[in-house]
Amino acid sequence: MKTYIFELEQLSYGYIDGGKKRLILEDLSFRFEKGKFYTILGPSGSGKTTLLALASALDVPEKGRVMYQGSDISKIGYTRFRRNHMAIIFQKYNLTDYLTGVENVESNMMIVDQKRSKDRKEIAYKILASMGIVQSKADRRVTKLSGGEQQRVAIARALAKDVDLILGDEPTGALDTATAKEIIELFQRLAHDYGKTIILVTHSDDVAKNSDITLRLQDGKLLVEHGEE
Ligand SMILES: Nc1ncnc2c1ncn2[C@@H]1O[C@H](COP(=O)(O)OP(=O)(O)OP(=O)(O)O)[C@@H](O)[C@H]1O
Ligand SMILES: [Mg+2]
Repeated sequence: MKTYIFELEQLSYGYIDGGKKRLILEDLSFRFEKGKFYTILGPSGSGKTTLLALASALDVPEKGRVMYQGSDISKIGYTRFRRNHMAIIFQKYNLTDYLTGVENVESNMMIVDQKRSKDRKEIAYKILASMGIVQSKADRRVTKLSGGEQQRVAIARALAKDVDLILGDEPTGALDTATAKEIIELFQRLAHDYGKTIILVTHSDDVAKNSDITLRLQDGKLLVEHGEE
C-alpha cells in the first residue's frame, strides 16, 4: 500500500496584477509518496516558487489545503510544521550571513533535538564534509564562500534537520555539473535508503531525469511528465 506523506488538495492561489486578480495555481492537487524523489519542471513564471511557498507554509492558499501525514497543516500549526517536519532549500541560499558554515548547519539542528553542543558540532562538520565542505571552509563566514559552496552549506543545513520532507527551489542551480551530480545522488539515497520525500523545483532536465517522478507545472496544475504516479 502506498503511503502518502504529503498532499496538496485543490489549491488555488493568485496575485493582484495591475489591479486585476491573476490566478497562478488553480485547483491543483497532488499526493506525494514517502521515500520518493520528485522534481517539478515548468517555465519561468509558471508558479513553482509560489507552490513551494504554500507547501512550506510560508504562505496560505486561498482555497484548498496542504496535508502532512494526513493532517491539515493549519491544524498542526504552521510554525510547528515548519519547525519539526520539513526543511527547505531556497532559490537564494538563505544562510545567516554573519555565521560560519558550521554555525549555519548547527543552528538548524538545535531546533529539532537537544544534542550536546560538542556532538552537534561534530555532526555538523560531518554533514558538511559529505557535501565537500572541509573544516577550514566550514569555519569561514558564509559570505566568504563561493556561490556553489554556499549552496552546499544550504543543503547541509537542510539535511542537518533530519526531517521526512525536504523541499528545494533549484538547489543545484549554482553548482557545476560534477557537484550537481553528487548532490542528486545524495538526494536519491536520502529518498531510497532513508525514506525521505524530496521535492525539488528545477530547470534542469538532467536533474529531472534522475528523479523518480517528474512533474510539470502547467496552467496552474501539476501534471505527471515521467515516472509512475
Ligand atoms: N508578490 C507578487 N505579486 C504579484 N505577482 C507575483 C508575486 N510573486 C510572484 N508573482 C508572479 O507570479 C508568477 C509566478 O511566480 P513564481 O515566482 O512562482 O514563478 P516560478 O515558476 O518560480 O519562476 P522562476 O522559474 O523564474 O523562478 C510570476 O508571473 C510572477 O511575476
Ligand atoms: Mg522560482
